[in-house]
Amino acid sequence: MTDLNQLENDLLKQVDAASDEPALEALRVAALGKKGSVSELLKTLGAMSPEERKEKGPLINGLRDKVQTAIGEKKEALADTALSARLAAERVDVTLPVQEGPETRGRIHPISQVIDEITAIFADMGFHVAEGPDIETDYLNFTALNFPVGHPAREMHDTFFLAPDEKGERKVLRTHTSPVQIRTMQSQKPPIRVVIPGRTYRHDSDQTHTPMFHQVEGLVIDETANIAHMKWVLEEFCKAFFEVDQVKMRFRPSFFPFTEPSAEVDIQCSRKGGEIRFGEGTDWLEILGCGMVHPNVLRNCGLDPDKVQGFAWGMGIDRIAMLKYGMPDLRPFFEADVRWLNHYGFRPLDIPSLVGGLSS
Ligand code: DAH
Repeated sequence: MTDLNQLENDLLKQVDAASDEPALEALRVAALGKKGSVSELLKTLGAMSPEERKEKGPLINGLRDKVQTAIGEKKEALADTALSARLAAERVDVTLPVQEGPETRGRIHPISQVIDEITAIFADMGFHVAEGPDIETDYLNFTALNFPVGHPAREMHDTFFLAPDEKGERKVLRTHTSPVQIRTMQSQKPPIRVVIPGRTYRHDSDQTHTPMFHQVEGLVIDETANIAHMKWVLEEFCKAFFEVDQVKMRFRPSFFPFTEPSAEVDIQCSRKGGEIRFGEGTDWLEILGCGMVHPNVLRNCGLDPDKVQGFAWGMGIDRIAMLKYGMPDLRPFFEADVRWLNHYGFRPLDIPSLVGGLSS
């Protein structure tokens, strides 16, 4: 019997000393597994006389039960300790800043952002967006817009011409978004209220000019649209776009073949400290051209100038983006440098809207 007591003491001590679940499992197999020390003892019961079995049976079974219970209890204790250790190790520090997901890492190019801002503002005033092709016919880019053939105004545009096609027609890379005015008036009946953002091309390159740039055109045609409406629309746009309560605008007489009268618009700004600010100051900055649509242009689109009239304007998107966001050089806009985009780009999930903020 001392053997059994000894075995029990040894086993219980080992169970108590087991430091983790794998060690405990090894012990269980060594004692209670098929060839374990306790299992081997249980096997000896079969060969005993009934008297001996009566005496030893309860002792050996008792040993097995004790070892089994001890292992079970130890297993629970080890699991508790492991869980506590894990909870302590995985504690979350809620004061740490939130880690950004990959969907927030990309950046929206300032041009795309500004186009979204412009369309949000004009959509709020009831305008639709219209678009046209970058490769345009000479007729739509010039002739239909009342540029007489051979007129020097065509030269002002530093046009890129394409090689003549089989019919001898020489297409152009559109020099402005104004041809989409014609496309719109040819395909829609007044009342018309559209804004037309898009790429435009001229043979020009320096700090503020690139051969490809962006314009946004506006066109309103109905029976009564007049200069007062135009001034209101442009003023509301400038206030919303530059996110100021007041802007002073100056309409200077100018010339465009497709408008009569025509004007160039300056907005008041301050250039103190080399930084341009709107809504204050005594300087002026030109931002767009505009005018009442020329009767010849209406006629070219099959509209009767005695029945309908309207106004149009065009402005450089790159230029107003540079002004609003303080970007001094236009050329990096088109260099696809990720460092520049990270600096000047916008967060993809911040969609510009008048209610949510244009450039939050
Ligand atoms: N198309 C002109 C340009 O590129 C800008 C412009 C001026 C557009 C007056 C207009 C307008 O619609 O009415 O210089």
